[in-house]
Formats: sequence, C-alpha cells, structure tokens
Amino acid sequence: MLRVESLSKIFSKGSTNEKLALRDVNLSLGEGEFVTIIGGNGAGKSTLMNCISGVYEIDNGRITLDSTDITFDPEYKRSRHIGRVFQDPLRGTAHDMTIEENLSIAFAKGKSVGLQAGVSKKDINLFKERLQLLDLGLENRLKHKVGLLSGGQRQALTLLMATIIKPRLLLLDEHTAALDPTIARKVLSLTRKIVSEEKLCTLMITHNMKASLEYGTRTIMMHEGRIMMDLQGHERKDMTVDRLIEQFEKRSGAELDNDRMLLG
Ligand SMILES: Nc1ncnc2c1ncn2[C@@H]1O[C@H](COP(=O)(O)OP(=O)(O)O)[C@@H](O)[C@H]1O
Ligand SMILES: [Mg+2]
Repeated sequence: MLRVESLSKIFSKGSTNEKLALRDVNLSLGEGEFVTIIGGNGAGKSTLMNCISGVYEIDNGRITLDSTDITFDPEYKRSRHIGRVFQDPLRGTAHDMTIEENLSIAFAKGKSVGLQAGVSKKDINLFKERLQLLDLGLENRLKHKVGLLSGGQRQALTLLMATIIKPRLLLLDEHTAALDPTIARKVLSLTRKIVSEEKLCTLMITHNMKASLEYGTRTIMMHEGRIMMDLQGHERKDMTVDRLIEQFEKRSGAELDNDRMLLG
C-alpha cells in the first residue's frame, strides 16, 4: 500500500541551522498493516508523516501509495487518500459548525463536485450509526456545535471524519497525547476498532512505549532521522517496555531523554 524509499528531508538547507531531519528512510506497509512509531523528541516522526502527506517537499527519495507515485503530488491531492489526526483536538474539526456539518464535509470528500450540497436522510443515518460506535452519545447531538464538545469527544469525532470515506492510509500523530488518560484510552480502543474493521493501512505516532507495543501489528522506533528498530511477529510479541528501552539505549548510544515515553 505505502512504500517510502530512500527518503531524506533537510530543513534550512545551506544555512547554519541546516538540519537533516530524515536520513534515507525506507518503509513499506502492506494492506491493513497497523504500525506504531515511537522515538524521542525531534527523532523525525512528525516530519516523516508530513513528507508522506505532502506538507513538506522532500530532498531525496520516492513515495508510492497503492502503486501510484505521489512524490510530487500536492498536499490537497494526497489528502483525498490520506486521513490524518493530529495532537491538537481543535485542529481536525470546525469549531463553529455542527457535528452534522463537520461530518458532511468529511463525507463530501468522496463525492464528485456538484453532489456535495445536500445532506440526505441516508447520510444522516450513516452519521448516527458511525457516531454510535464512539459510545459518547454524540448521535443524539448532531445539531450541536463542535465547539461545545470536550477535547476527547472532538478527537473521537475527528477520527470518524478521517475514516468516514475509507482512506488508503491513515496517519495519526500523537492523537491522544493531549487527552486525559481515561478518554485517551477510549480514543485508542476506538482507533483499534476502526482500523481493524476497515482494514486500514495505518501509521500511529505515540509517545507511550506501552501503547506502541499494545496497539497495532508492528512497531518502529526512530532516532535522529532514522528507523533504528522495526519490530514485528514473534520479536514484537515477546518485547517488553523494559527491553525496548534497553535496546534503544544500546543501539542509539543515547539515554532516553523523554520521561513522557515511559509513563502511562
Ligand atoms: N518546519 C521545520 N523547520 C525547521 N526544522 C524543523 C521543522 N520541523 C521539524 N524540524 C526539525 O526536524 C527534526 C525532527 O522534528 P520532528 O519530525 O517534529 O520530530 P518528532 O515528531 O519526532 O518529535 C527536529 O530537529 C526539528 O527541530
Ligand atoms: Mg512530533
């Protein structure tokens, strides 16, 4: 589904602030593969997602989605096939619009121009059905403005919006990091449910080591712009958080700087 080849990204090229944020990254994801990404601050995790989704132009390499070379496609074009959820709950939804309006906009992404105007009864039923999945009672609040919702409710809604038209790839960048632990867990299990039911090819960045092993089918660890560990199968099944930290320190020669990664 997704293939990233020899990807490099340099910020502020030629200046004294030059930063090689991604160094020759190679990554292939099969259909329905759910990969978690972990790594310290500044490891290049978000940059990788931003390069895949077309926010940043890359300096070297090739990105293929579903056998189509998208390396030079603009972000808006890629966004038709790539769903994203960010850390900030305010980012994914329109505050001043109702739940129904927000879902309609996301749903219209899959329709051709001209057919976008009306929301049919059928659409509403689908929205209600999807909202019921969240188990937050939002199906009874379709006409409520999104600005009235809590951060967790907004993230859950954003996740629905990102997947209501099945994306070829779902990118989640610490999408539960800003939430209370209880609602974070709820949004994570909802993520798992949607990803497995829809068989979505998914990359999920998390700062939580435990979650990185608990969710998904494969775990990648990044350090200084490189993928330094790629765990799957038995190796991953037998991995513990303690051994993951040990491996990280051994391979990187660095100590884990980030308490956040160990908590939770
Ligand atoms: N827009 C940008 N301009 C300049 N440097 C950036 C930009 N985005 C990220 N970086 C740098 O690239 C490196 C990787 O950042 P990032 O991908 O955000 O890390 P992570 O998400 O793993 O914490 C960091 O050193 C960061 O400062
Ligand atoms: Mg980041």
